[in-house]
Amino acid sequence: PVVAGSRSRVLSTIVMATAATQVPVKEVPTKPIDGQKTGTSGLRKKTKVFMSDNYLANWVQSLFNALGDEVAGQSLALGGDGRYFGKEAAQIIVKLAAGNGFKKIYVGKDAIMATPAMSAFIRRRKAYGGLIMSASHNPGGPEEDFGIKFNYTAGEPAPEKITDKIYGETTSINTLQMADIPDVDLSKVGVTTFGGFEVEVVDPIADYLATLKEVFDFGMLKAFVTRADFSMVFDAMHAVTGPYAKAIFVEELGAKPESIKNGVALPDFGGGHPDPNLTYAHDLVELQWSDAGAMLGAASDGDGDRNMILGKKFFVSPSDSVAMIAANAQACIPYFKGGLKGVARSMPTGAALDRVAAKLGLPFFETPTGWKFFGNLMDAGKCSVCGEESFGTGADHIREKDGIFAVLCWLSILAYKNKDVPVGGQLVTVEDVAAEFWGTYGRNFFSRYDYEACESAAAEKMMDHVRSVIAASPAGTKFGAFELATADDFEYTDPIDGSVAKGQGLRFVFTDGSRIIFRLSGTGSAGATIRMYIEQYTDDKARLKEDAQVALKDIIKVALDLSKLQEFTGRDKPTVIT
Ligand code: G6P
Ligand code: ZN
Repeated sequence: PVVAGSRSRVLSTIVMATAATQVPVKEVPTKPIDGQKTGTSGLRKKTKVFMSDNYLANWVQSLFNALGDEVAGQSLALGGDGRYFGKEAAQIIVKLAAGNGFKKIYVGKDAIMATPAMSAFIRRRKAYGGLIMSASHNPGGPEEDFGIKFNYTAGEPAPEKITDKIYGETTSINTLQMADIPDVDLSKVGVTTFGGFEVEVVDPIADYLATLKEVFDFGMLKAFVTRADFSMVFDAMHAVTGPYAKAIFVEELGAKPESIKNGVALPDFGGGHPDPNLTYAHDLVELQWSDAGAMLGAASDGDGDRNMILGKKFFVSPSDSVAMIAANAQACIPYFKGGLKGVARSMPTGAALDRVAAKLGLPFFETPTGWKFFGNLMDAGKCSVCGEESFGTGADHIREKDGIFAVLCWLSILAYKNKDVPVGGQLVTVEDVAAEFWGTYGRNFFSRYDYEACESAAAEKMMDHVRSVIAASPAGTKFGAFELATADDFEYTDPIDGSVAKGQGLRFVFTDGSRIIFRLSGTGSAGATIRMYIEQYTDDKARLKEDAQVALKDIIKVALDLSKLQEFTGRDKPTVIT
């Protein structure tokens, strides 16, 4: 008899049992599939690609191979953002988990679990790790994208040492260890056992809600949300946060059911692009810029980790949002009442947070793009609040960015600042919170220009050109009215484990603190997406409320000129501006 784990023999017809779980296992022969490289946030491809041959199974088996003996007897969690193919994919993954020696798998009901909820779940249940079936904010459906990512024991996105290993395994894989068990009914909460293997279908909201209740004062929030003069609107974009928003904002906090827009999660997100920014969340933007706008407007993405915060006719840039949350956290949010341990932002993110750290005397870290870089800092107790310009905000309650957390932070700030305002009085608004912040710290105007789906070769050429500009530009070089302080290709040495991440973005830092940064996206699924990040600081009181596009006009021109972006890509304007 052969037991699972001895992968040297390919025996497709012989059914065996794993020693640990006594589940019958088939060894199914397979062949490597090109291009299963795991990017910034897992593997993302067209849904049809994922549905073809053993595409999904190969990657998952490669992951289990990469993890090796560690997985035997462990429990795994599984869920996703509800996109097309998720339920079928879950059945395949359950069989692979059983076939590879896991003792138990938790599956979110209907194969649903938002990314931050998964991170919370892994931590609360002490699961070995979790798989999230999502392509985040990319559209879903048979013609669109599917994806899968792995989160590790602390609930954090898989570190590079694992993702690199997975890729290695995908290039030599020859066998799938599939348990020979029937499909499990994922529509009902409960436990099913197969020999020594257990499948537990769980409520995907309960554990997450329990974690959020440890962070926020739900009583104070409820008192505020149910005020007659308060209104909020949350746009779930037909993605996974619909049911979460209903449970948390409506059922727990008493918001009106109409506060949730596009709250029914759909496998194709209603044909939309579930990315909470000014371009794709246009319904919400239109509403908030109309007279019917709510005091707080918010949206989240496909899998619930991103967020956008709006006031009435007012946009809070994510770089500002994390800084404003950090500045107000200790006073407004119980979890932070002892003060923050430290704060962190990704390199391209606007530098408002740096000023908060300086003023509050907090350790500050500048990491490469990608949430995974925050995890080590948090595990080492050096970071409480962190965020990215890419609409990600979070804290060390979990190890993922957290869309609903960000909304609850803003609700907490508003609730606290309005605690002494009588109903019908002049409420402190989102815009007031921002104005107060800028008045204290000055304002870092920030904007990002995205050029999506460019030809890859053209994008690479442009980046090479920018590298040559860096090489030829010593400190003191003038770019328009801006004098260069330093320019480089950003490199990060993790202060905890000493690992080095190179090539993380081409940046120009000017003597007045202004910055221009170029990066190629690590999450696109077609061609190359160029991201150009622009930042300029002012403490001129008369300019604090200026429109960012107006304030940044000159430096944007400098960036376009120095990169020759238009010449290389043939694009005369970006596809998305945030
Ligand atoms: C994902 C990660 C974020 C990261 C973003 C960058 O959303 O979770 O942490 O900021 O990707 O995406 P990009 O397309 O700019 O590489
Ligand atoms: Zn996401």
